[in-house]
Order: sequence, then structure tokens, then C-alpha cells
Amino acid sequence: MRNDAVSVVSRQLGISKAEFHQNYESIGKAMIIRRDDMFVKEEGYFGRLMLSSFKLWAVYGYAGIRDYKRIPDIKLISGIHTEVVQKEDGILYKMDPEKVMFSKGNKRERHILTEIVHRDETVLDMFAGIGYFSIPISFKVKRIYSCEINPDSFHYLLINKRMNGARNLVAMLGDSSSIPMRGFSDRIIMGHFDSHKYLEKALLYLKKEGKIHLHSLATRGDYSSLYEKYGQYEYVEDVEVRKVKSYSPSHDHVVVDMDVKKH
Ligand SMILES: C[S@@+](CC[C@H](N)C(=O)[O-])C[C@H]1O[C@@H](n2cnc3c(N)ncnc32)[C@H](O)[C@@H]1O
Repeated sequence: MRNDAVSVVSRQLGISKAEFHQNYESIGKAMIIRRDDMFVKEEGYFGRLMLSSFKLWAVYGYAGIRDYKRIPDIKLISGIHTEVVQKEDGILYKMDPEKVMFSKGNKRERHILTEIVHRDETVLDMFAGIGYFSIPISFKVKRIYSCEINPDSFHYLLINKRMNGARNLVAMLGDSSSIPMRGFSDRIIMGHFDSHKYLEKALLYLKKEGKIHLHSLATRGDYSSLYEKYGQYEYVEDVEVRKVKSYSPSHDHVVVDMDVKKH
């Protein structure tokens, strides 16, 4: 019988290790549990079990994300509320779990982006959050402009820029549809499900030729409507749709890659 913390806790909860990993997420010294989770029958008990088993500072119940600023609907179940630091691929991300969201499930997408960018590129991240895409990319490109509208997320974007020495990252507080520049970017990342509303603006920010990576929700097994929708845009020469992760029983989180050429 295995005695690592996940095995012990899974046995106590009466679930498999795979189910445990699906429903419980750790960010630094905090653990987030889905509040609609069928395993959370008695919050206090689960909170204390997690705190002691994983040597955590805090356990939170999570019920979803609110409004366009993506503020987590979250409640402290056990422990003390504090900032946490998540380390991924040698990069530190500091955040307050009660104020900002952290998309751990986008790790593969982040790896893909850091592989495809070029040293001489100027990139724009229109929805930067705390820098989850922007900071790793900043080490691979000439410059990345990282725009964020929520002052709480922007605060951590600045801290994370400094903490990781991301010198090529230019942080901008405000609405990414009002950037007072044109034709300056080789590549644009649009990591928000409302991104489609900002595509016309993104096309203005792009140089004569460039790439756009637009995040969207799509019906599982049928991405054809996205190929049609984005293929119709003027200047969009090629469209590719890639799955990032499963979002719900019927929908996937996808990225629409667009090659743009303005003639
Ligand atoms: C889904 S989060 C993604 C953050 C990041 N890409 C990640 O993967 O962690 C979207 C972010 O866009 C920000 N946002 C929403 N509307 C915006 C706008 N018009 N201009 C700039 N940022 C915006 C939200 O505050 C939120 O932090």
C-alpha cells in the first residue's frame, strides 16, 4: 500500500488518484477544491485533511469565475489566507488566490507558444492576467507588450515581471481595445473567451504580416464553425483550430491560429 499524500488522501476520500487530480488543484501552498464537487461533503473535515496531508497554508472552495475580469468566486475553508507562489518551469508566479485566477490547465499551450516565437518578434498579449503566457515568452522575444485591465491582476503582473527579471516585458494597465499604437506587433495572444469581440482591433495592432492566437470555446468534435467564422475575415489567409483542454462535457477550450497578411 502506497503512503504518499495523494494515495493516503484518495483512500480516505474513497476515490481513485485520477479522480483526485481532476478535482483538487494546488497552487503554491494553497489547494483549490471545486465547491460543487461531490467529494466535498463536509468542508471543514476536507479542509483539515488537505492542510495536514499536504502541509499547506490554505484550502479554498471554488465555485467559478465572475465577469470579464475573471475574478474567482472562492471561499477560504481551512488555514490562513495569504499570497502564494506557484513555480512552473523555473518561473515564479505570485498571486492572491482570492483576487486573481491562475490557469494551470493552459500549461501545454504555454509550452507551444514559447517554442514557436522568434527572437526578433514583438508580441502583444491582449489579456495578460498575472503573466502566465507573457513572462515565459518575454525571455524568447525582442519585446512583449502585456495588457491587463484588472488592477489586482496588473499588480501581480508587475511583481512577477520583477521577480523573474522579465526585462523585455512592457506591462500596460488598461483596456486592450484602446492601445494607442498601430501596426507594431508580429504576433498577438488573445487569451480570453470574449476575444472575438477584439479581433478587429487586433488586426490593427498587427504588422503587415503576422499571427494571431485567439482562445475560444468550441463544441467538441465540430470545430467547422470556427474555421468558417475566422476564415471570412479580411486579411486572414489561413486558420487552424487546436484543442487546449476539455472545458465541459460538451465543449473544448481551443485556440484559433490565424495567419494574417495585409495586402
Ligand atoms: C482568462 S484571463 C487569462 C490570463 C492569462 N492569459 C492566463 O492564461 O492566465 C483573462 C484576463 O484578461 C483580462 N481582461 C479582460 N478584458 C480585458 C480588456 N478589455 N483589456 C485587457 N485585459 C482584459 C482579465 O482581467 C483577465 O485577467
